[in-house]
Amino acid sequence: MQVSLAQIDHLVEKIRSRVRQKPRIGIILGTGLGGLAETVLAATFVPYHELPDWPTSTVVGHAGRLVSGELEGQPVLVMQGRIHYYEGYSMAQVTMPVRVMQRLGIEILIVTNAAGAINPDYLPGEVMLITDHLNLTGMTGLNPLIGPNMDEFGPRFPDMGQAYDRELSALARNVAAQSGIQLHEGVYVGLSGPSFETPADLRFLRLAGADAVGMSTVSEVTVARHGGTRVLGISGISNKANLDGDTTTSHEEVLEAGRVLTPKLETIIRGLLRLL
Ligand code: HPA
Repeated sequence: MQVSLAQIDHLVEKIRSRVRQKPRIGIILGTGLGGLAETVLAATFVPYHELPDWPTSTVVGHAGRLVSGELEGQPVLVMQGRIHYYEGYSMAQVTMPVRVMQRLGIEILIVTNAAGAINPDYLPGEVMLITDHLNLTGMTGLNPLIGPNMDEFGPRFPDMGQAYDRELSALARNVAAQSGIQLHEGVYVGLSGPSFETPADLRFLRLAGADAVGMSTVSEVTVARHGGTRVLGISGISNKANLDGDTTTSHEEVLEAGRVLTPKLETIIRGLLRLL
């Protein structure tokens, strides 16, 4: 299903009528990582189901609401829970919230996710700065920009040479170092899910240069960059990817890791917001 500019702008009007502030920074919180949204000051909550045409989060670990308010003095709009392609929505629907944020005027998008470690040096509970991504869903025909180009946002063939903003990444790196948080850096590969990968999938992804694997983020970032929004991406490593087939991966494990990851992500994001 395509999403029209009229639908996007209708949502923008609805949200404007509910929240006081114009957001400067959009934040998308991944599975089990919603805690930061609870600490937003002067918060207004808009549950997704109260917004017309807004896809709802059906997954445990995603609250499913927008949180508008202030973090470290910055006007933010937080998605506490994201939409995934595997929930049955089209790529246009999955990325519609990014379009809405762009029309609301955000300059920067911070995306977080829970991811499996393909890089053998990463451990559950550690965090990775996303320096680039492998758009495997896009390569197989699920690019969110397929369809008539929305000229109001950006060009037909957007450049993706610097999907993740170098300046924002440098700031995040400094904040992590000053806070004593080990921050890996690597390539995130986005798959559709919902099944986890086979060991053969994982060996293939490792050879292709992926450090962490997940089921989100890439389409959102593609749409963000199409519209000229600057992006910072951070993965919370929730589990070690099962390259030899000897262990199992579960959603519960991903949620459990979120409890360790949330304070680290909060420290990095708050530190970054203070510098902006
Ligand atoms: N694979 C895919 N997606 C994930 C994983 C994983 O191991 N962990 C968290 N999201």
